[in-house]
Amino acid sequence: MNIHVFKNKIDASSYVLKLFQETLEKNTANFGLATGSTPETLYALLRQSDLDFSQASAINLDEYFGLSADHPQSYAYFMKKQLFNDKPFKHTFIPNGMNRDTKDEINSYEKILHDHPIDLQILGIGTNGHIGFNEPGTDFHSKTHLVELTASTINSNKRFFEDASQVPTHAYSMGIESIMNAKKIVLMAFGTSKADIIAQALEGHITENVPASILQKHPNTIVVLDEAASQTLHNSSIHHE
Ligand code: GLP
Repeated sequence: MNIHVFKNKIDASSYVLKLFQETLEKNTANFGLATGSTPETLYALLRQSDLDFSQASAINLDEYFGLSADHPQSYAYFMKKQLFNDKPFKHTFIPNGMNRDTKDEINSYEKILHDHPIDLQILGIGTNGHIGFNEPGTDFHSKTHLVELTASTINSNKRFFEDASQVPTHAYSMGIESIMNAKKIVLMAFGTSKADIIAQALEGHITENVPASILQKHPNTIVVLDEAASQTLHNSSIHHE
């Protein structure tokens, strides 16, 4: 794992922007994208950039079950506002939160992933170690699945809804194995609230109780942190930028 620590999230996100640029040099690049506040600065930089995504595909990690693409809290809506309205991609894929036929949704998403192998996967991390919506305890061999969100995730995400009772209780998410199939993974985390879980994920045991810890096994993972998120790491192979 390559761990890079930057002064702030703007410098950190500028570094990730360069990885997008490199990946685009390939003819038909496939980007695995994430939601949450962590990649917002990156998406702002991408919007302002002159990068052309018209031949690239975007495949998102997850979507709330029961929210339609035009619901302001859906991840489909978030992605349009953050990136796709300004930077058109050839294809954009996000699980369909309105598909109640879970088998059908899972199969079609796995087919999309099979047809569009991800070159660069962006990940944030939940304070409980989740990646995508793979909550603690998720099987490391999981593929796309319907997840029951934990109380801690519902609590973290309620800030975007009127109250906790409005936060969906389930979501579709790419599984851990689907994520690990990406050629390159970039895990981003900013702020002190992520410091403890980052230390556990990067330096603790590889365990299903901390889903992000599996990234220690990926041959090509880059971790991009700000100073605050890196403060409890002991690893001597950290690159301070
Ligand atoms: C959500 C998303 C994750 C994201 C996490 C952290 O639960 N499903 O993909 O990484 O939140 O969000 P934030 O970046 O806002 O801390």
